[in-house]
Amino acid sequence: MKPYEPLYYRDYLQLSSVLNAQSLRSVEYADRAEASAEASAGAHDEMLFIITHQAYELWFKQMLFELDSILALFAQKPLPAPDVATILHRLRRMNSIARVLLQQIDIMETMTPMDFLDFRGVLYPASGFQSLQFRLLEIKLGLSDEQRVQVHLQLDAPDQAAMNAAKAQQSLFVAIERWLERMPFLELGGLGSDGKNELESEIGSGLEGEGAHATPYSFWREYQHAVGAMYAHERDMLAQNISQNAASHPFSLKLLAQIEASEVNFHAFFDAEKYQSLVASGARRLSFRATQAALFVFLYREYPLLQQPFRLLEAVLELDEMFALWRYRHAQMAFRMIGGRVGTGGSSGHEYLASAAMKHRIFTDYFVLSAYLIPRKSLPALPPELSAMLGFSFES
Ligand code: HEM
Repeated sequence: MKPYEPLYYRDYLQLSSVLNAQSLRSVEYADRAEASAEASAGAHDEMLFIITHQAYELWFKQMLFELDSILALFAQKPLPAPDVATILHRLRRMNSIARVLLQQIDIMETMTPMDFLDFRGVLYPASGFQSLQFRLLEIKLGLSDEQRVQVHLQLDAPDQAAMNAAKAQQSLFVAIERWLERMPFLELGGLGSDGKNELESEIGSGLEGEGAHATPYSFWREYQHAVGAMYAHERDMLAQNISQNAASHPFSLKLLAQIEASEVNFHAFFDAEKYQSLVASGARRLSFRATQAALFVFLYREYPLLQQPFRLLEAVLELDEMFALWRYRHAQMAFRMIGGRVGTGGSSGHEYLASAAMKHRIFTDYFVLSAYLIPRKSLPALPPELSAMLGFSFES
C-alpha cells in the first residue's frame, strides 16, 4: 500500500498555480494602456476583470463535468430508474451554479465604463466569444448550428476541433427527446410496431401476460376528445350568454372568434403531418412522439411514476431560462460598458449579444407546450389499470 502523505491545503488546491494566474496586460503594456497615474501598477480594475472571468471558467468546468456525467447516464438503454434521480440531482446542481453565474454580473458591473477604458485597448482580439467551455456547454446542451446567429466565432484550431468533437456526441436535448420517445403509458393494450404490447416492450417481463385489451387506450385520442369537449362547452356557454344578455353580444362574439382560433391551433397541433411541417421549417425541434410524452408528463404529473420525469423537465426548463437570463444580463452589461461599439472579439457587440439572447434557446419546445395544456377539470381520467401502474400500489 502507498504510504500516506499528509496533505497541505495550498498543495491540494494547487493554489500556487491558481493564485498566480492573473497577469495584468495593463502592466505588461503600461506604455500602451490608457491608464493614468497608477499606471505602473496597471489598471486597477483589470484584476477584477480577470478574476471574474476565471471564476466563470471554473464554474463552466464544473457544469461541463455534471453535464458529461448526465449524458453518460442517458446513454444507457433502458435508463435505470435510480439514475433518473441522479440526473435530476445533477441538473439541479447545474441550476444552482447558473444562478451564481447570473449574480456574478453584479460584481463585474462595479467596474465603470471609464475603468474599463483604462485597459480595454490591450485586450484585442480576445473576448468571452472565444470561451471554449461556454461553446461546449451550448453544444452539449443542444444548441444547433442552424440556430446560431451567423458570426465568425474566432476560435483557434484546437478549440475548433474540440467543438467539432462535441457536435458529434448526443446532446442533452436529443438524449431527453429519445428518452421521452421510449416512454410507455401513452398507449395501453394496443400492439406496438414490433407486435408487442408497448408497455411490455419498455418495462419488460414484470408486465408480461397482460395481453391485448378490448379497447386499447390511446392518450392522444383521449386528449383530442377532451380538448374538443372543452371547446364545445366553452362555445355553448357563450351562446347561452349571447341569448340571455344582448348587451354582452359584441364582446362575446369577439371571444367566440378567439376560442375558434385557439381550437384551430390545437387541431394543427394534433395533426402529425402539420407538426412535421413545423419541424421541417425549424419552428419546432422536438419529435411528435416526444412532444406527446412531454405533454402527458405535464398533464398527469401528480402520479408518482411521472413525478421524476416532470421534475427533470422542469429542471431543464429552468436551466434554459437561467442561460437566457445570463445572456440578457450580459448583453445589458456590455451595452452599459461599451455602448454601441463593436466587441473586442469583432462582433457587432450589444446588437449581436441581444439577438443571441433571443435566438440561442434550446428547450423552447417545452415552453411552447404550455399553450396546449387544458385545465384539470377537463382532463380525461386515466383507465384504472394505467392509473394503478403510475401510482404506488401495495397489496398486503
Ligand atoms: C466588461 C465586461 C464585459 C464586456 C464589456 C463584455 C462584452 C462582450 C461582447 C461585446 C461580446 C460579443 C463578442 C465580441 O465581439 O467580443 C461578448 C461575448 C461573450 N462574453 Fe463578454 N463581456 C464582459 C464580461 C464577460 C464576462 C465576465 C464573461 C464571463 C465568462 C463573459 C463571457 C462572454 C461570452 C461567453 C461571450 C460569448 C457570448 C455569445 O457568443 O453568445 N463576458 N462579451
